[in-house]
Formats: sequence, structure tokens, C-alpha cells
Amino acid sequence: MTQETGFKNARILVAGGAGFVGSNLVHMLLAEDPKQIIVVDNLLSSDEVNVPSDKRVKFVVGSVTDTQVLANLPDDLDYAFNLVCYHGNQSSIANPMADHDNNLLPALTLFDRLKDIKTLRRVVYAAAACAVAEKTYDDPSPTTEEQPVSLVHDSPYSISKLVGELYGNYFHIRHGLPIVKARFSNVYGPREILGAGRWRGTAHTVWRNVTPTFVWKSLNGESLPLDNGGNTSRDFIFVEDMARGLMACALRGEAGGVYNLATGRETTILELANAINAATGNKSPLDLKPARDWDRSGKRFASTEKARTQLGFEAKVSIQEGINRTVEWTRQNTAVIQTCMDQHRKQLSQLG
Ligand SMILES: NC(=O)c1ccc[n+]([C@@H]2O[C@H](COP(=O)([O-])OP(=O)(O)OC[C@H]3O[C@@H](n4cnc5c(N)ncnc54)[C@H](O)[C@@H]3O)[C@@H](O)[C@H]2O)c1
Repeated sequence: MTQETGFKNARILVAGGAGFVGSNLVHMLLAEDPKQIIVVDNLLSSDEVNVPSDKRVKFVVGSVTDTQVLANLPDDLDYAFNLVCYHGNQSSIANPMADHDNNLLPALTLFDRLKDIKTLRRVVYAAAACAVAEKTYDDPSPTTEEQPVSLVHDSPYSISKLVGELYGNYFHIRHGLPIVKARFSNVYGPREILGAGRWRGTAHTVWRNVTPTFVWKSLNGESLPLDNGGNTSRDFIFVEDMARGLMACALRGEAGGVYNLATGRETTILELANAINAATGNKSPLDLKPARDWDRSGKRFASTEKARTQLGFEAKVSIQEGINRTVEWTRQNTAVIQTCMDQHRKQLSQLG
């Protein structure tokens, strides 16, 4: 196949494809008429409801560190996306070994297997902007792809994401693996299911990231808790934009290259909370709290210049539109989300 035909008739691997971002990517890739999408996922932080029932999708429930799973991958893949992680920062702090086994090791084992597949046009790796962003509570400047990287990190998750990039670079230089590193900013949107997957040692198994947590609490009329008074800021990107960005990385990213996938806009958590309450009509007052002890990431947003000029990628969905769509999806999927949350009820109550 050729670059011009995009994903048409392509055979594509999406590791972590049952997860939040991975499943949105799979849904979007299906619209491009691929030959086959192979999803490999051990359902550690996801639910199989996210994997579309489509004869072109082959769902392998297993780990990409499993030698048999790796051996069974076809030798004629056109594209591969690695979206595996041990979700998320707090879980990795609670269990660094589990993070190693499901965040860093999967990158290594997968790259090592993929290096032998010569039909691969691109391998896109989900890297994290949080692993490279400058840590400041002053006015941040946009984080570029060339930002110097600190060797001091707040979580094993962040270390794994960074070393995953280093392995990607190594396999590119040594073995010609056509890696493209996509540095994600904070993704939000449909198919992020609170409580999806197995218990990972902290309440964040259920509550995951700030946006789905706030949307859920807001829909239930609860006060939204604002760490550090909501002063922290992030670059929030809607998941549909993220999936488009990942596809742009695969089609137009330079092998060995790194690209921020972001909006280039800074939104404080206070602004996010207000936007969510506006979308749901929640009138409960905000709950202002001190900063989390492990989190020194402060305020940040990403530079979008390189992705715009080299990939032709720009995020399209505004924060209010994205939140409205996330609220609507959450309303329509309350039963599935509640079931996933309920499976951790006992462990949550033991935390006190
Ligand atoms: N969502 C964000 O804001 C964000 C930000 C920065 C980076 N990322 C990266 O993007 C990727 C996707 O994140 P997400 O938010 O969709 O998380 P997610 O938890 O929904 O997806 C990760 C998927 O990996 C699967 N998985 C875990 N260990 C595995 C293993 N050993 N083998 C196979 N599958 C395994 C999980 O079951 C899950 O389906 C991750 O690599 C993450 O580090 C996400």
C-alpha cells in the first residue's frame, strides 16, 4: 500500500485499543476502511464494551508482554499504535512494579517484536507531555518538542513514558523501527469509563482523570473538589482530536520524530469545573482543597506549531463543545459507568 491511500486496506495493530483513547482511535480508523484492526488489551484499565463489534476488528485479550501474543501478531502489519499504560500517575506511585510491567515493559517488548516486521510504515507511541513539561506556577510558556527533559520525576508513570520514548529512539536508530512519538496533553471525552478494569490500589482506579470525575460528580449534583484551589492549568484536548492527531502522526509523521498533540490553549481546573457545572446545571459550590503532595506540575500547555506545520494537525473541538459532548455521552452511558465503578466498591470503602 502507499501513503496516499491512508489506512484503506491496511492491517493495523492498536495495543491498548480497549482503553479510552485507543477505542476512540479504533472507531475512527474503522471509518477509513482498513483490512483489519488487531486490538491487544489485557483490560487492566478498560472494559471490553469499548471494543467495536465489527468483523474487521480482531480482539486479543492479553498482554503485549506475553511472548505468545507477540508471536501471533501478523508479519504484514502496515501500522501499529502503542496506547498501553498502567493508568495512571497515582496507581504507579502505589505500585511501581505494576507500572513497570504494564507501562514500560510493554513498550520494550512491543518495539522488539515490531522491529522484525518490515512492512510497517509507522509505529506511533503514546508519550506524555507531563513527562517533559516545565514545572511552574508562574506564567508558563508553551512546551515545545525540544524542551530539555529533567531526570527528576514525580511518578513511575512519568518515568515509564519517558523511557518508552528512549526505547523508541533506540529501536529507530539501531533497527530502523519507523517510530513516531506522539506527546499527549490531557485528553478528555467519551469512552473514558470511571472504574473500568481491575483495582489498581488507589481511589484513582475509579476516579481516573479530572474531567470524567468532575462530569460524574457534577451530574450527581456534588461539589467539585479543586486541588490547589483550581489554580493548576492543563492543555485539554478532546479525544476525537487526539485520535485524528494520532492518525496524522502515522500518515505524515517523520520516522524518529516527536510531535505534541495538543490545543495550545491553557485551561485552569477552576475554569474546567465552571464549564462542566454550566453544562450540567450543577449549582453546588466548588470545594477548594490544598495541592496534592506528589504533584508539582503546576501550570502548563503545549506548543502546537510543529504538529501544525509538519503534520497539518490542529485540534478543532473547543473546550465547551468537548465538555458538552462528554456530559451527553456520560448521561447516555450511566449504567455501564456505574457497573464499572461498583466493582471496586469494597476496595474503595476499605480506603476509608
Ligand atoms: N489520557 C490522557 O490524558 C493521556 C495523557 C498522556 C499520555 N497518555 C497515554 O495515552 C495512552 C492511552 O491512555 P488512556 O487514557 O486511553 O488510558 P487507558 O487506561 O484507558 O488505556 C490504556 C490501555 O492499556 C491497557 N493495558 C494495560 N497494560 C497492558 C498490557 N500489559 N498489555 C496490553 N494492554 C494493556 C489497559 O487495559 C487499557 O485499555 C497511554 O499510553 C497513556 O500513557 C494519555
